Amino acid sequence: MATYSVALIPGDGIGPEVLREGKKVMDAVAQVTGITWKWTEYPYGAEHWLKHRKGLPTLFSEEDMAGLGKHDAVYFGAVGDPRVPESVEQAGALLWMRFYFDQYINLRPAKLLRGVASPLANKKPHDINILVVRENSEDFYIGLGARHSGRKSKQTLELKRALYQARFNVDIDLDPGDELAYQIGAMTAKGAERVLRYGFELAKKKKLTRVTAVHKANVLTKIYGLWLEAAERVAKEYPGIELEETIVDATAMWLVRRPEWFQVIVAPNMFGDILSDLAASTVGGMGFAPGGNINPNRKAGVSMFEPIHGSAPKHGGLNKANPIATILAGKLMLEHLGEDRAAELVEQATEDVLEAGKVRTYDVGGTSSCSAMGDAIAERVLQLRP
Ligand code: IPM
Ligand code: MG
Repeated sequence: MATYSVALIPGDGIGPEVLREGKKVMDAVAQVTGITWKWTEYPYGAEHWLKHRKGLPTLFSEEDMAGLGKHDAVYFGAVGDPRVPESVEQAGALLWMRFYFDQYINLRPAKLLRGVASPLANKKPHDINILVVRENSEDFYIGLGARHSGRKSKQTLELKRALYQARFNVDIDLDPGDELAYQIGAMTAKGAERVLRYGFELAKKKKLTRVTAVHKANVLTKIYGLWLEAAERVAKEYPGIELEETIVDATAMWLVRRPEWFQVIVAPNMFGDILSDLAASTVGGMGFAPGGNINPNRKAGVSMFEPIHGSAPKHGGLNKANPIATILAGKLMLEHLGEDRAAELVEQATEDVLEAGKVRTYDVGGTSSCSAMGDAIAERVLQLRP
């Protein structure tokens, strides 16, 4: 059986406690499947940055990144602490990791599990089962923009990506006393096609029949016009799967009115950010929302698996957070490693525990601790066996 080397980054706030439970469940999976984990824990987070990386605009150094890149996967808790600038722990951590390893897929499934109530009326388990595929490297997330005050100014903005390089020359003439801010969104045909193709491949693998490509091409005609053309080209390669094109505002409405409709949603970066939180809320909230920042080519870049929620500093260390998002991120990690049966075991054990209803964390009206939840799911994994 396979051995996988995984980097653990517990991080800040509730990160360490939820990741501990994730690892506990993965260790139980190893016991019953014969998978071997080689865990290496890294101390990256607020404390470490304040002590060893202060002054750095990013949470990790280049060498830190290179070290992480040697593993088969990164299993991540959460980062974010009031003592560290937000830019360091957001753009300087999550976004940088996505760009550095070209993790161009952000896979964020939203599934209504057995034993969990949706805030939407009359939903049964699995009625909501959406694979949100968020583009993770382009769009308005490329980090190009500026603020200008003063009359005339010229600037060149440079963009360097694994796929391409671009230079934007900006020439601004402003009324004195005014200020102008702008942020550039960019999309390439290759960048769009690769994530759309991933969405169609996922639909094929899961025997689904529809891929919904989200856009706003009626207003942002250039960037999302290119996106839709890419969607139409890719769809031609998959005759058995329907391509549906929906405008993002209407998609938000339909996610609330009729979430059952959606199978695979492929969305540009920013719309995907927003819609994945919305989708998560329909299946019980952020406590149930895992994410995979994926480079499908394991040799080209390591992938990172995390709960979508943040570090919730005020709850940190209280052993009360819901670890299920992290445990389900472990499921995504197993799928990425090609261990599909082990992945299914994790979901089944999680659902069995939730359905039994004895162990529930505070976010779903229970009083159980984070570790009690992890214990129960790990035990259930051992009982079920694959
Ligand atoms: C997410 C988060 C991040 C994002 C932030 C923290 C940079 O909201 O992972 O969804 O916007 O991508
Ligand atoms: Mg977000």
